[in-house]
Amino acid sequence: MAKMKTRIRYSVHFLILVICECSCVNWLELVIGPSLGNAGDNEVGEGKKLKINNAQDLAESFGYPFQAHEVSSQTGYILSLHRIPYGIKRKQSNNTKRPVALFQHGLVSASDMWMFQGPNVNLPYILADAGYDVWISNMRGNVYSKAHKVLNPDKDPTFWDFTLHEVAYYDLPAIIDYILNMTNHSNLYFLGHSIGSTVGMILCTLRPEYNSKIKLHLSLAPLVYVTHAITVSHKIFMLPTVPMIQTALANQIYNMFPRRPFFAKLMQMLCNDGTPLQQLCISTVFLLVGADYSQFDTKCIPDMTTYFPAGTSTYLIRHTLQIYLNGTLSALDYGNNEENFKKYNQTDPPHYNLSTVTHPISLHYGNGDLLVTEQDIDYIEKELPNPVGKFPVPHSDFNHIDFVWGIDAKKLIYDRIIVIMDKYR
Ligand SMILES: *[C@@H]1O[C@H](CO)[C@@H](O)[C@H](O)[C@H]1NC(C)=O
Ligand SMILES: *[C@@H]1O[C@H](CO)[C@@H](O)[C@H](O)[C@H]1NC(C)=O
Ligand SMILES: *[C@@H]1O[C@H](CO)[C@@H](O)[C@H](O)[C@H]1NC(C)=O
Ligand SMILES: *[C@@H]1O[C@H](CO)[C@@H](O)[C@H](O)[C@H]1NC(C)=O
Ligand SMILES: *[C@@H]1O[C@H](CO)[C@@H](O)[C@H](O)[C@H]1NC(C)=O
Repeated sequence: MAKMKTRIRYSVHFLILVICECSCVNWLELVIGPSLGNAGDNEVGEGKKLKINNAQDLAESFGYPFQAHEVSSQTGYILSLHRIPYGIKRKQSNNTKRPVALFQHGLVSASDMWMFQGPNVNLPYILADAGYDVWISNMRGNVYSKAHKVLNPDKDPTFWDFTLHEVAYYDLPAIIDYILNMTNHSNLYFLGHSIGSTVGMILCTLRPEYNSKIKLHLSLAPLVYVTHAITVSHKIFMLPTVPMIQTALANQIYNMFPRRPFFAKLMQMLCNDGTPLQQLCISTVFLLVGADYSQFDTKCIPDMTTYFPAGTSTYLIRHTLQIYLNGTLSALDYGNNEENFKKYNQTDPPHYNLSTVTHPISLHYGNGDLLVTEQDIDYIEKELPNPVGKFPVPHSDFNHIDFVWGIDAKKLIYDRIIVIMDKYR
């Protein structure tokens, strides 16, 4: 009976996916990700049909210096850090000690989502040109950080057994300490988008000693406390996702939305300029993130579909959905006391209390963002001990993805971010 029910729910989601993502063959593995032991062609580089540049190719194609660093976190994950140590715009002296800016991307993304549009558009290049030493993190499990000292991501399910909790507790501290050591700085600027900002805050609830290592946190559309009423379209989208995730886990799909060249190719066939279904593609995305035609560059669709998604763990997606749908900021509820106890030493998942997040945080939000609204920001600002203000982007439709890809993001928000950062130098 229960199995039948799951099947029906699963079928409903299947239909939604077919309609929304127009993919129909063997959907679970094709769209969501390969099951373990059946690794897909989800790597950067040698896509058979589509050449995907990596972050280094991108930065260097625009004339920027680029370095790749590897950081091991305490639990054995090997994380890729990308660095643009200085810019090309002004004559930049090599001896000056540049302040460090660390970027943390949002859900199922990678460092390169901030890098394909180029100078004067993408924030890492803009900050490098403004005199910052730019580092961009890659969350464990994405296309650049799918490595571990002992675990094999294609064979060991335990590799994928992580949520935002482990990223915040183990990986961010390792990354921050590595950068501070390499640059001989005592603190850095942290820029987080969406759940990228959330993990920065969770870090300081779990390890308050990291407050002193973050000079200023630029928080872009942080998904922390969801207090607004969730729209009907979000419910239609997200509620079936919960059983879908259960199904995925039951089918040993632990790695969700990996980067897959053929999937990018398919999306491009459907969504590029000049295709009849483009409008459907765009409105589907806008249903989730908010509609903002004026900031969405359709010429970038080939790059957006190439560099997004980049893969993450099924559990991390489940955790993000829990934060969004339940409206509380706590660790993932594994659904049974035993499992929770194993993870957290208590049967209830712990709540993260923002009262220990004492480093300064500026909160930026878009008035057209359906995922993070002004009401949510007001609540977070009230909970944080040291907010340095809330900043609406001065454009009425600014949505969740405009923070990364908006056509006029430089004029609308990045220039202001630099002014705020300069005050803390
Ligand atoms: C800075 O120094 C490094 C090596 O120390 C060198 O490779 C690089 O070209 C220099 N950059 C500039 C802008 O002078
Ligand atoms: C690091 O900075 C400290 C002072 O801030 C200085 O004494 C030390 O020599 C520096 N170390 C390196 C390796 O540059
Ligand atoms: C970085 O760490 C190494 C090893 O712990 C240490 O020897 C070195 O002095 C550190 N460098 C800086 C600049 O703090
Ligand atoms: C979900 O929300 C309820 C009601 O606010 C709360 O009691 C519960 O602890 C939340 N669950 C999690 C896992 O945060
Ligand atoms: C967080 O901790 C502070 C200080 O211990 C306490 O006053 C506050 O009620 C807590 N907030 C939540 C949401 O639990």
